[in-house]
Amino acid sequence: MDPEIVEALVGVLEAKDLCTAAHSWRVILYARAMAEAAGLDHAMILRITYGAALHDVGKIDVPDEIILKPGPLTDAEFTVMKTHAALGHERLVRMGETDDVVLSLVRHHHERWDGKGYPDQLSGVDIPIAPRMFAVIDSFDAMTSVRPYRTDIGPDAAKRAIDELAAGAGTRYATDAVTLFTALFSRGGLNWILEYFNDTCPVPDYSELAALEKIRGG
Ligand SMILES: [Fe+2]
Repeated sequence: MDPEIVEALVGVLEAKDLCTAAHSWRVILYARAMAEAAGLDHAMILRITYGAALHDVGKIDVPDEIILKPGPLTDAEFTVMKTHAALGHERLVRMGETDDVVLSLVRHHHERWDGKGYPDQLSGVDIPIAPRMFAVIDSFDAMTSVRPYRTDIGPDAAKRAIDELAAGAGTRYATDAVTLFTALFSRGGLNWILEYFNDTCPVPDYSELAALEKIRGG
């Protein structure tokens, strides 16, 4: 996928909702760290990075009053919110995207290991590996980032999030994905993302991102 198109789509999301945009930037970095830790080659790491960047692109098509609601959603609103996974996939297909890693990550990032997720209720290894791994990242960030209704973040929240992931291994999440993410977290390999990219829904600073990537890459 053309990096400029990825950036443009993430830009549209930023314009709509800065919390979603900040979340997108963090999960890109978590996904990259996890893909590197899994020993994947550069081309695959790039494909996963693009998929991570675009995972919530379907939120462009969800009404603002639901995306920006400063509190828990009603059941009816949540039903609409859940359409973002399939809508994002459909949008990318319409744009001519054919990369199965990108498409599967966007469509299936809310599937669950036990088949109780959405949009297709896939279960176990029927869930492609990229969204299986990404579901852990997405949940971790949701549990450790500032949201309109929660400001409880930091190392304690991260520890609790890791415990939640462990509790959900084999039901909500793929056990191998939880194991890999937890190992990386335990080694301190994710602290730079947790610490540097997590505040009150900021405008992402591209120069800071580049600088941190450089520091990290050596
Ligand atoms: Fe999502």
